[in-house]
Amino acid sequence: LVVIGPDVPEHDALSFASHIRITRPAVGVVLIREQINVAVLTRALQAGVREVVPVGALTALAQACERSREVSRSVTGEPAGEPGRHGQVITVFSAKGGCGKTTLAVNLATSLAAGGQHSVCLLDLDLAFGDVAISVQLEPTRTIVGGVPMVGRLDSTGASSLLTPYRPGLTTLLAPVSPGEAEKVPAALVAELLEVLPTMVDFVVVDTPSQFSEHVLNAMDASSHHVLLTTPDVPALKNLRLTLDMLDLLSYPTERRSIVLNRSDSKVGLTADDIERVVRAPIAAHVPSSREVPISVNKGTPITIANPAHPVSQAITRFARTTLLSHAEPVRNGTRAPSPVAAEQAKQGAFARLRKGRR
Ligand SMILES: Nc1ncnc2c1ncn2[C@@H]1O[C@H](COP(=O)(O)OP(=O)(O)OP(=O)(O)O)[C@@H](O)[C@H]1O
Ligand SMILES: [Mg+2]
Repeated sequence: LVVIGPDVPEHDALSFASHIRITRPAVGVVLIREQINVAVLTRALQAGVREVVPVGALTALAQACERSREVSRSVTGEPAGEPGRHGQVITVFSAKGGCGKTTLAVNLATSLAAGGQHSVCLLDLDLAFGDVAISVQLEPTRTIVGGVPMVGRLDSTGASSLLTPYRPGLTTLLAPVSPGEAEKVPAALVAELLEVLPTMVDFVVVDTPSQFSEHVLNAMDASSHHVLLTTPDVPALKNLRLTLDMLDLLSYPTERRSIVLNRSDSKVGLTADDIERVVRAPIAAHVPSSREVPISVNKGTPITIANPAHPVSQAITRFARTTLLSHAEPVRNGTRAPSPVAAEQAKQGAFARLRKGRR
């Protein structure tokens, strides 16, 4: 949105508007003028100015800006907030690195979006080393760092300005480009984003780093479902067991969690039964190993899009459909009273609960 003040000569303002209309059609131009008459309005309209507002009419200016943003959002396909809506937050986590979190998060997001059937935002919370952008070949010109000045007053317009659209129904909120920038992102921003984004989309899928940072715990708190990933090797299983113990300690309900076994067919001497015995919980999805997965990452097209019939794609879309879409029930929409645990959790936050637990 560009607002041109009354001191800019009309000729300059209108030639800028004509230029921007061709080069950046999503950008709206609002013109402020001392005098508005039919001739000024006609010339402005011909140049592609969206609204002309008289000097000093602040309410009219705010309304014109909001209308223009609305038009821009429909041009770019960016979602707008709806107060009654409460989308689901799904956090993908594994305490061991390299298990396939990003691969699963990206492909779950594309599966849930299903070509535009649902609206989905993929949030990259691997702040220091996020690779959602590179996995789907997006330019990280807008990242979560842009939200830092909005902490404490983030709204859907602010959140929208951070998003990078990817495909129909699927937008992304990308991680910072450097680890140094990641340090600027406070955990409070994550909590606020996960309040606002669900008013804008049906699902927010959160990719995470491999540590229980305060940011990750805020995402866990805001989630209606935790997807916990492991591979069939002893270190990953040990870390999954520790993760489950930690989530139990924090009183997260077990029915809102799913365990996904990635590279499930790897011949490494452990059967699915062995694994279920170690983690003491059923496995909700088995995703096979395939060289098509790194190939799809290298090409920048998620496997569920590049080859929907592939066994990896099938396993992920089946999991999305049977577990996530079928349980797509708002947790905090006011129609279901939060359990005492959930209410207590909401008051304290997971990180505070963890600290308390340690004392
Ligand atoms: N089912 C699979 N079959 C074959 N390769 C896979 C599979 N899942 C993931 N990979 C590959 O494993 C590597 C790690 O995957 P990914 O980046 O998704 O893991 P991650 O848990 O996000 O890692 P990090 O902890 O570094 O963020 C990637 O090269 C990816 O292509
Ligand atoms: Mg990753």
